[in-house]
Amino acid sequence: MSACPIISLMDTPCKSDLIGKKVLVTAGPTVEDIDPVRFISNRSTGKMGVALAAAAAARGAEVALVHGPLAVPCPTAPNIECIAVRSANQMHSAVMDISGTIDIAIMAAAVADYRSSSIALQKIKKNGNSKLSIELLPTRDILAELGSMGSPPYLIGFAAESENLIANARSKMRLKRCDMICANDISDATSGFAVDSNRITILTAKGEIFELPQLSKKQAAEEILNRIDFSIIP
Ligand code: CTP
Repeated sequence: MSACPIISLMDTPCKSDLIGKKVLVTAGPTVEDIDPVRFISNRSTGKMGVALAAAAAARGAEVALVHGPLAVPCPTAPNIECIAVRSANQMHSAVMDISGTIDIAIMAAAVADYRSSSIALQKIKKNGNSKLSIELLPTRDILAELGSMGSPPYLIGFAAESENLIANARSKMRLKRCDMICANDISDATSGFAVDSNRITILTAKGEIFELPQLSKKQAAEEILNRIDFSIIP
């Protein structure tokens, strides 16, 4: 088990409530290739997911971190396995491979909702064309698939919203059958993508709402883990 980080020792006593639990964390963006040089992706850096993986490992969990290309290093601890993927399709396969073994899934990745219907083997040339259309097809919703499993893990989703934060997050939680959802207002410059802090509101399926102040992603990770309801984890 990894050592409790010094910052946590100062902030909150280091907990060991995840000993014996297998935790899946998804993190970072996915990348949907169009041709050998172009792709569709998003601004996620993976910082929130990496903070969650490190915090869960420090509490004693066996962590599988399935991540797209990260802007920060993968956490290193003997109880964290990093599984690197690129596309939403690859993230889906990596998650489904281990889905039967996990107790808790924390889905912090910014998964592409659409992918190009084909990936050109050669660079797409302009050829004098004034327009180019790329057909996009929907990707599979990994979180929703976990939520519809026969015996789903305890499921924590994220909701990145630019309007109607609580209402949209609540309907996402219901639609994807999450036990908890962390709502992120991405219109707030101090929160969300590519910054070190986060201001999240945690909603639970039991109807609780926890509006957290602006916190470092490390502190936000601890607050999320503190609210796991162990009584409903088999
Ligand atoms: N998610 C996922 N697989 C997808 C899309 C999203 O697992 N193909 C997960 C994300 O990791 C997150 C949650 O679903 O935990 C919500 O993602 P978000 O991007 O906020 O919402 P979407 O479901 O993509 O809906 P929309 O883009 O319409 O807001």
